Amino acid sequence: MPPPRTGRGLPWLGLVLSSVCVALGSETQANSTTDALNVLLIIVDDLRPSLGCYGDKLVRSPNIDQLASHSLLFQNAFAQQAVCAPSRVSFLTGRRPDTTRLYDFNSYWRVHAGNFSTIPQYFKENGYVTMSVGKVFHPGISSNHTDDSPYSWSFPPYHPSSEKYENTKTCRGPDGELHANLLCPVDVLDVPEGTLPDKQSTEQAIQLLEKMKTSASPFFLAVGYHKPHIPFRYPKEFQKLYPLENITLAPDPEVPDGLPPVAYNPWMDIRQREDVQALNISVPYGPIPVDFQRKIRQSYFASVSYLDTQVGRLLSALDDLQLANSTIIAFTSDHGRQSMDLVELVSLFPTLAGLAGLQVPPRCPVPSFHVELCREGKNLLKHFRFRDLEEDPYLPGNPRELIAYSQYPRPSDIPQWNSDKPSLKDIKIMGYSIRTIDYRYTVWIGFNPDEFLANFSDIHAGELYFVDSDPLQDHNMYNDSQGGDLFQLLMP
Ligand SMILES: *[C@@H]1O[C@H](CO)[C@@H](O)[C@H](O)[C@H]1NC(C)=O
Ligand SMILES: *[C@@H]1O[C@H](CO)[C@@H](O)[C@H](O)[C@H]1NC(C)=O
Ligand SMILES: *[C@@H]1O[C@H](CO)[C@@H](O)[C@H](O)[C@H]1NC(C)=O
Ligand SMILES: *[C@@H]1O[C@H](CO)[C@@H](O)[C@H](O)[C@H]1NC(C)=O
Ligand SMILES: *[C@@H]1O[C@H](CO)[C@@H](O)[C@H](O)[C@H]1NC(C)=O
Ligand SMILES: *[C@@H]1O[C@H](CO)[C@@H](O)[C@H](O)[C@H]1NC(C)=O
Repeated sequence: MPPPRTGRGLPWLGLVLSSVCVALGSETQANSTTDALNVLLIIVDDLRPSLGCYGDKLVRSPNIDQLASHSLLFQNAFAQQAVCAPSRVSFLTGRRPDTTRLYDFNSYWRVHAGNFSTIPQYFKENGYVTMSVGKVFHPGISSNHTDDSPYSWSFPPYHPSSEKYENTKTCRGPDGELHANLLCPVDVLDVPEGTLPDKQSTEQAIQLLEKMKTSASPFFLAVGYHKPHIPFRYPKEFQKLYPLENITLAPDPEVPDGLPPVAYNPWMDIRQREDVQALNISVPYGPIPVDFQRKIRQSYFASVSYLDTQVGRLLSALDDLQLANSTIIAFTSDHGRQSMDLVELVSLFPTLAGLAGLQVPPRCPVPSFHVELCREGKNLLKHFRFRDLEEDPYLPGNPRELIAYSQYPRPSDIPQWNSDKPSLKDIKIMGYSIRTIDYRYTVWIGFNPDEFLANFSDIHAGELYFVDSDPLQDHNMYNDSQGGDLFQLLMP
């Protein structure tokens, strides 16, 4: 593994989100367009805070940790819906899923909900060259099969050519044959094209940075990495970092007693892989054999370390090109899990605009389907101001500012084949969830997908966890509480 990047003593500012991870760095506010700051937005697929910078003792992530050490790290940042396409459309437009009306993969917000501006579109309209590499928008109809081109990007987005092999039979099994497995450590020289998508994306991103070095315009470069999303297809040498005997099991591998069935994710996408199918694990509750649990964790961590080296190469190139001191870096995942300050990914849009010195879009009215440019999140700029001694080091927000909202749709009250990813027409229940510093509170309520109407008097189930005494959220206290009353008081 390459050594971690060396620090340059720059006043990086970063931000990291739990289950989602954001690092933001910037030198200072630019004065004029000639010294406008560039933006590098790194989006990682399904990365939870299994990183050294979040206190994980096992995972090796020296490059991301190095970035975080110079950055403002958000300990409690939340995605608005833990599914790729809805999450990305939400934070890239700065609107919640109830506004983008995307809870699945099957519609394009500009025609389905409203013609909402995106972060890159806004930078493009403000004189930036905007570029997309890898998985930034979710591909397919949710970004009109073009990653929202031409609106978001100055030229057509780049996709690595080896992306098409991700879910194909390229994993050598113990039988010597090739399979489409969940666990897929590979010899890179042996795979089709002799490379992997994230390696190609890093190379392309570095080439673009080299081009931008001499550009008169500032740039906004978004780089979307595939790993550690399943399948865990990564260079096999990263497995050596995590000997199986050193891998612990999840601290709470059992399904919690008080978990309402509607809340359970039956991980159907994992079951489809050949190596998992062979285990004949009962649907929906499993369990997964203990040895295989260890192997899954080993490959997840190895994928994170592989991702980390890609991030390291990218950031080293930024340094080498002497662009680091003029580039804001935001690092985030689209989702993951878990939980100082609570922030939401919808705040990325106003915050990046603010950091770059652009006008921060105004707050959205309710409803805001007709408004192209507004923000549902907050400008988090004040979090960066601790560095400026003239400023109040921390402006306490009103209590509502310390709430993060998210949601998740379900097709039925009990787990079934499409519970993880129901299509819009199949959504019958919406889980609305709030996280405060003290608790995680969720109500699962009736939802009408034709009208986009949630019925708060039709409560199917509830969850309440006190995160101080129950950080892993294993003891549901909902039935001991006052039901949905609290939730209604706190809804935005
Ligand atoms: C902004 O402009 C002021 C006055 O013109 C100058 O003193 C300051 O150094 C400039 N800051 C940057 C970041 O260029
Ligand atoms: C949507 O917004 C884009 C970008 O501003 C604009 O070019 C387009 O005309 C708009 N479409 C509609 C239907 O308003
Ligand atoms: C979506 O893509 C189609 C086909 O390329 C195009 O005709 C249509 O105008 C696009 N939609 C929007 C809103 O730009
Ligand atoms: C595995 O655990 C042993 C015992 O704690 C430790 O000495 C060793 O360094 C670990 N190996 C790795 C690769 O972390
Ligand atoms: C799979 O498990 C079920 C019980 O859960 C059992 O009836 C069946 O025989 C098993 N199939 C195989 C191929 O082991
Ligand atoms: C960034 O650093 C390079 C070399 O260290 C220097 O030439 C350049 O002026 C710096 N840019 C800014 C905006 O400070």
